[in-house]
Amino acid sequence: MFVWSKLSASRSADLWEERFAENKDGTLVINSFPGRKMVCLEFYSETQAPVKAVQKIYGGKVKHLKTQNWAAHASQTPPPVKVRDTFVICAAKTDAEIEKARAKFPGREIIAVPADMAFGTGHHATTATVLRLLVDAAEERQAAGKKWSMADLGCGSGILAIAADKLGATRVWGCDYDPAAVKISKENAERNETPKVRFTKVDVLKWEPKQQWDIVAANIFFDVLEAAFPQLVRSVAPGGVLMLSGILKSQAKACLAAGKRAGFVVEKVVTKGKWVTAMGTVK
Ligand SMILES: C[S@@+](CC[C@H](N)C(=O)[O-])C[C@H]1O[C@@H](n2cnc3c(N)ncnc32)[C@H](O)[C@@H]1O
Repeated sequence: MFVWSKLSASRSADLWEERFAENKDGTLVINSFPGRKMVCLEFYSETQAPVKAVQKIYGGKVKHLKTQNWAAHASQTPPPVKVRDTFVICAAKTDAEIEKARAKFPGREIIAVPADMAFGTGHHATTATVLRLLVDAAEERQAAGKKWSMADLGCGSGILAIAADKLGATRVWGCDYDPAAVKISKENAERNETPKVRFTKVDVLKWEPKQQWDIVAANIFFDVLEAAFPQLVRSVAPGGVLMLSGILKSQAKACLAAGKRAGFVVEKVVTKGKWVTAMGTVK
């Protein structure tokens, strides 16, 4: 694994996201910290050429990482993220660290997601927005005394599925086409004492849903959403909702139009930075 890194003004973070949005040769990680004016940009690739190409355009440093656990190399431990009054997402790894987080944030449920190979530490705008929608949707269902189930498509670290379990979902399933993400999700479910959550390796593009869920969350990327809308819509139980994220602002119109053609009825759109999250019902 190779990594390119560079410091940049935090106000330019969106610009960097956009610059790298179409770069399929690696993964951009933006490490930002509340109250700090700089962000640390990191671009990871399996091979050296893509990171060298980035360095040639933007300067910065290139390093060869000998271990695969690349995200753990992120320059600093990310600060905890609060979601409504309900959760604190933190990078605690061990039971002792989780206990420490519980003591620091009384009254909140802790979700421990150490930086790892899979996406989803709660810091990205898309994850944070879906988490908020999930908390609100769970509260509504709880107030109405309804039982509910949840599917997390493109589970990454498993964060959304774990949150759904902690919010009271009775049946939770997550999937990812990346076996490393599935493994990490299972480890995170164990770490967070949510053993009922199931994770499987599934490519959503080749998926034929055999069940339905009351809440289906898919924070995947617009091109996968566009292609998978028929399956996504079919996987939502009657009266259920679909939460979609991973859509860049510039792609939202086309993506949501494709969703509408497949039967997605948008009820709420949240824009955070350059990212759009949409929630709605299905016909
Ligand atoms: C943006 S991350 C979201 C992770 C996590 N759910 C979150 O909200 O933070 C997208 C995830 O979708 C997975 N993914 C991308 N295309 C997929 C596909 N066709 N089928 C299943 N998973 C996919 C990626 O491996 C990645 O883990």
